[in-house]
Amino acid sequence: MQHLPVYYFTNPRGVRVLASTVVLASVFWIFYQWSSTVDGATRFSRDAIHDIQNKTLGFGAILLISLDFRTDRRDALTLITSTSDIEITEVIDGVRGESIHEKAHPTGEWPERVDMSHLGSWRSHMNALKYIIDNQIETALIVEDDVDWDVHVKSQLNSFAHGLRNSNLRSLYTPQEIQYAPYGLDWDTLHLGTSRTGMAPAPLDDLYALYHDPYRTPPELIAHKDACGEKDWYCWADMMTHTSCNDNSRVLYPTYSSVGLVAFAVTLLGAQRLLYELSWVGLNTSLDYSIRGLHTRGALHGWTVTPPIMSSWVTGDGADSDLTNDGKGRTGVPRHGNLGGEGKGLGWSARKALTGRLTREDYWKGPHGW
Ligand SMILES: *[C@@H]1O[C@H](CO)[C@@H](O)[C@H](O)[C@H]1NC(C)=O
Ligand SMILES: *[C@@H]1O[C@H](CO)[C@@H](O)[C@H](O)[C@H]1NC(C)=O
Repeated sequence: MQHLPVYYFTNPRGVRVLASTVVLASVFWIFYQWSSTVDGATRFSRDAIHDIQNKTLGFGAILLISLDFRTDRRDALTLITSTSDIEITEVIDGVRGESIHEKAHPTGEWPERVDMSHLGSWRSHMNALKYIIDNQIETALIVEDDVDWDVHVKSQLNSFAHGLRNSNLRSLYTPQEIQYAPYGLDWDTLHLGTSRTGMAPAPLDDLYALYHDPYRTPPELIAHKDACGEKDWYCWADMMTHTSCNDNSRVLYPTYSSVGLVAFAVTLLGAQRLLYELSWVGLNTSLDYSIRGLHTRGALHGWTVTPPIMSSWVTGDGADSDLTNDGKGRTGVPRHGNLGGEGKGLGWSARKALTGRLTREDYWKGPHGW
């Protein structure tokens, strides 16, 4: 027996046995890899798609942009992150436009169209991008402080990630993407929430994929079921019709004219491209429309999902946007408070769910005692 190895290498028959063993093993290995193909990709010991269940939703970080005086919104974020098992990695303090030194103003045509609060918003997002690049974060989700998501957000993102992986809109996931990047890495940006969106015009309007999501926003909650007008916000009806999207599906497509940065993810290279285009090169209009323009002319590649998985919480009063009306939001409107608010286009708003989760049944009426 101790001569067995030598035998295999010297005896012609042994060599044949050895060779066929090697060939057989290779065939089995290839067959195994082929047969274990899941989601159009080979299964590895680790599949990053499970990481979507983690506290940063499978992203490398979640950054929150928030003006320091919006303590009300920071309270709200603490409530919805803690009840959704989500963690904000870093808070990026919102910047007031007036505080930016003139020498640091971007070049470009922005002064014709952008007021100081929008300039501040531009700077806040540049700071978020800078943080992502300085810390070499491969993918990061940037949320604004009026963000709302669905109580099923992890399941919805899981469906979205599978939808992207199974779609024929991109090439097969690489082994590195399968193991480390739940949403792949072929993109610069992800618009998980939009207030306005549109696909590329014909003949590129067939570039979309429908995917199943048991927690799709119920049709009656998708605002504007009729055709969207030029001025309509939060209107996804046209897209649902165009794609024949059924009530249990969402549609994903390469970003063309998406607007809205309430829940916007970037890859490291995407962050670099954005900082290059919008700081180094310059700014011509408000940030969200600049980003829309970069996608429209193909300088950025991203994915948008509709109806959105995350959205803006609106109460319809002065507590809403810090951008409109020179930062004052809607003035002269009575404060309705959060209990009358709405997470636009979300089926099961995490903010709305706070009431059910955190208000007690009247203790005194219950069977107290023990
Ligand atoms: C969540 O998963 C992503 C992707 O694998 C990873 O980069 C990130 O560090 C994870 N976050 C936490 C809090 O573990
Ligand atoms: C702003 O306009 C200039 C001049 O037309 C152009 O070179 C630049 O790319 C524009 N920037 C963006 C972000 O679109």
